[in-house]
Amino acid sequence: MKKIGIITSGGDCGGLNSVIKGAAKTALSMGMEVVVIPNGYAGLYNLLEMDSLVTLTQVRLDAFDGTKSGSEAGHSRVKIKKIDNAAKYDRIKDGLRKFSIEGLVISGGDDTGSVIVDLSSKGIPCVHVPKTMDLDLQTYSVGGDSTINRIAMLARDLKTTGRSHNRVLVMEVFGRYAGHSAFRGGLAAEADCILIPEIPADFDIVYEHVKRVFTGRVQRSDVHAGTYLVIVAEGLTDAKGEALADESAGKDSFGHVKLSGAGKYVRKQLESRLKADPEIVEFMKGVGMFVKGLNESPEVREVNPGHIVRSGYSSAYDVVFGLRGGAAGVTLLAKGMTGVTVVNVDGTDISYVPTKDAIKQRHVDISEVSLFEAMDVCFGREPEAYEPKPSEHKGGITRYM
Ligand code: F6P
Repeated sequence: MKKIGIITSGGDCGGLNSVIKGAAKTALSMGMEVVVIPNGYAGLYNLLEMDSLVTLTQVRLDAFDGTKSGSEAGHSRVKIKKIDNAAKYDRIKDGLRKFSIEGLVISGGDDTGSVIVDLSSKGIPCVHVPKTMDLDLQTYSVGGDSTINRIAMLARDLKTTGRSHNRVLVMEVFGRYAGHSAFRGGLAAEADCILIPEIPADFDIVYEHVKRVFTGRVQRSDVHAGTYLVIVAEGLTDAKGEALADESAGKDSFGHVKLSGAGKYVRKQLESRLKADPEIVEFMKGVGMFVKGLNESPEVREVNPGHIVRSGYSSAYDVVFGLRGGAAGVTLLAKGMTGVTVVNVDGTDISYVPTKDAIKQRHVDISEVSLFEAMDVCFGREPEAYEPKPSEHKGGITRYM
């Protein structure tokens, strides 16, 4: 292979620029040329009409910071199968031929992966480097660690303002229908309550926890100060399993509902219970906060950092994983592999799985939750007993998460 293209697709996140650099530098060292196919699958589809492509020479690689989140290659959410043109695959092949591109390294999540399976079956060689801040692939994906660190940092920081006003804070975070980012980010911020799609939320249970932990914290404080932090995954459902997001936000071009509103829903649930509870009036009086008509119950505020959780800079873990993943993508492509997803690079051992298996959705392992329930973190259900079962380590893959 003499020339390959690199594509990034889906939602951007940390680690992607390292994938690009890892792939390009490895290709250069192997004597191959790497070009950027801009703006995801939209660019791939329109390649035929482009006059020129950016070649990733050492000079061009120096022009962007590999440790920054986002992607120098650009993104779009376009599913090739859905394009209304019977000749779409021929058009793509003609575009690749026009620029003498023999294979593709594509970094993206499950939707991107499904297109890789599709393209590969149509005879277009492509290798998948896993990327998604949602962490819902079977393999680790760049973006996960960066996002979890950002969620933890933002949530931690929020507590200073929350404590100053004795407010209950609800922070909604991206992650679609998997709770990995909320779960890990929330734990890392020492959140009091973490609500994830894997556990339908019972708001009576959440409220009892808020009441006990928040009021106790303020009462015990010598200056009567305290806050309570809830991290809510955007794909949360209620106890009946019904989605809490407001569907009026519409759908993206992959056909997914744009999730938004779970945090607002949680805020309203807590607010109404706090206002209706006579014991809260007694609590407010007891800590000297009660002012009739002005300050009768603690405020609940909701914060939605949105895209901030996947912006800025990549974590060190993602930069290193991205460099390895990009290098592995090029190596597998050069060895004639297609339709596969990089899992890991362990020394000279590059592991991979068929992309069709890598993109099966992975959720938070619920057996992990009870450990943290024993530490009094609320997950919106009756806590379950944590029963550890020690077993001898048998070796094998130790996954990051
Ligand atoms: O899949 C990654 C993700 O960040 C989700 O967590 C989130 O729901 C979605 O992308 C937001 O997408 P967009 O940037 O298209 O609004």
